[in-house]
Amino acid sequence: MATQTTRSRRTAGTETQTQINTEDIAQLEAGRMLVIGQLEEAHAAEGAAVTTLRAHIAMTPEGPYRRLLDRHLGETRQQATQLQDRLSELGANRSVLAVGFGAAQTVIGQALALSKGPVDLVRGRAGEEKLFKNAKDEVATEALEIATYDGIEATARAVGDVKTAELAVRIRGQEERQLTALREQLPELAKATVRAIAAGDASYDVSTTGAAEGLRKLRDEVEDDVEDLGDEVKTTARRAQRSSRRTTTKA
Ligand SMILES: [Fe+2]
Repeated sequence: MATQTTRSRRTAGTETQTQINTEDIAQLEAGRMLVIGQLEEAHAAEGAAVTTLRAHIAMTPEGPYRRLLDRHLGETRQQATQLQDRLSELGANRSVLAVGFGAAQTVIGQALALSKGPVDLVRGRAGEEKLFKNAKDEVATEALEIATYDGIEATARAVGDVKTAELAVRIRGQEERQLTALREQLPELAKATVRAIAAGDASYDVSTTGAAEGLRKLRDEVEDDVEDLGDEVKTTARRAQRSSRRTTTKA
């Protein structure tokens, strides 16, 4: 019964966006769980994006498009770390099993992406066309990420969590920049596809792009990830145990 909600209050002429009574512990807790759920979703999405970006980078020759992918891989890894840090600050340790499961899923996803990458290259009519399709997929991914951070910002503000809202705004800025830059690459990638397929003037040569070497390196890294996975789950479980002991002591 939400008889005490402070919906759309106005303070000093500014409409606050808080939709709950922040003095009510139950409402605060429900709000915290909502934010955690969305942050976990975003964290999983960024983990998947790292996998996809690495697979795409491995088949992309040096140039402006490749530089965009390299830059965004670094950003995406940082975003995943920032999201994980915020989740920890919000006390999301209870989902330790989900963390372990998520890590396993990431490694499985990487293995799938790796096995798919070279197959795509062989099956595709031209490497140029593959890059063009990759770029379109990346545009769609960035748009979805932007929507995810729109949702996180609005949810966080609605429950009075300014810190999470500000994190969402910062990350969304990077996604928006990447979306714009990717769209700017599409005409060139489309023209190269037309030259390769319609005019018989191919420029993409897998043996000179470093793709084979990139894929080999990526495979090695994934094998290392598989080995690290067991350790990671154990460390997370230990951290969660310590944190829950601290919480119990404080209470
Ligand atoms: Fe992104």
